[in-house]
Amino acid sequence: MTVQTARTVEELEAYCARLRAAGLDAPWSRPGPLIPPKPTATQPRLWRWRDVEPLLRESAEFLSPHRGAERRVLRLHNPGVPERTAAHSLVLAVQYLLPGEVAPAHRHSPTAIRFMLHGEGAYTTVDGQKCAMKPGDLVVTPGMAWHDHGNEGNAPVFWMDVLDWQVVRFLENLTFEPYPDDQQPTLRNPGRDIFFPWSETYAALLRRAEQEADPFDDVLLEYLDPVTGGSLRPTVACYLQLLRPGVRTRAHRETSCAVYRVVRGQGATTVDEQTFEWGPGDFFVVPPRARHAHLNLGSEPAVLFSAQDVPLLKLLRLYRMEPAD
Ligand SMILES: [Fe+2]
Ligand SMILES: [Fe+2]
Repeated sequence: MTVQTARTVEELEAYCARLRAAGLDAPWSRPGPLIPPKPTATQPRLWRWRDVEPLLRESAEFLSPHRGAERRVLRLHNPGVPERTAAHSLVLAVQYLLPGEVAPAHRHSPTAIRFMLHGEGAYTTVDGQKCAMKPGDLVVTPGMAWHDHGNEGNAPVFWMDVLDWQVVRFLENLTFEPYPDDQQPTLRNPGRDIFFPWSETYAALLRRAEQEADPFDDVLLEYLDPVTGGSLRPTVACYLQLLRPGVRTRAHRETSCAVYRVVRGQGATTVDEQTFEWGPGDFFVVPPRARHAHLNLGSEPAVLFSAQDVPLLKLLRLYRMEPAD
């Protein structure tokens, strides 16, 4: 912006000093646009499971879950995000529990969504609803719901946590509260709005695969809240996706951000200038507006789980998707 004035630079600086003293700012007094653009902090990134898993198992030598530390998690750290989260809007962590361990009950304003990865005997209790978590099961912990985790099996368990605390933090509404005891009593069976068993979701994905394919995602199934019929949470939507052998999806851009976990299969995702070849257990991030396309490189169907901030963008009427072939 160019200041047009008959007054001198010194007079403008003195005027700006009086503005500051009055709690005011003249954006036209500085060069640059009125609303400066903000580059995306989230960078395209791949985390290989073969790198993550040994470090996750080793974390048990440094920390036991207890009040204060609360959870034995490793967060995916995107080098571009100052808060060391996977993306600017989405937090992704892997949580690890040894046999007999309990992660004590607490509640907080951010929402968490768990996707079970490995092991037998894990559970999450959400407001008195004890959800036994088998690999592929999804559990929603809405903001301010009491929740504790445990491992009743005889081997370590781990799952991934997706949280929206970056968004809640930006809105300056982060709250956290410990429960009086380590565990809550079980009061009732899990509701269908918080517990999504793998067997049902995967069966629905296979049924979807019989329908016409999506050129950008091949076979895409969103987890829907049975009460609202909409995305699981206003901030986060979750999807299970199948790429049939040989499929290369059309490249596209979305204004939203996505974090992926490879459930099974071998493939590659091109994100802007980079191509991430992935296999079972790997994670990757697609930042907003990045050109991306998926490719199945194997002879079997590939299955991807993803969490995306699409509903938040839609709520703000900022969601756009465009082909980028
Ligand atoms: Fe929590
Ligand atoms: Fe996409």
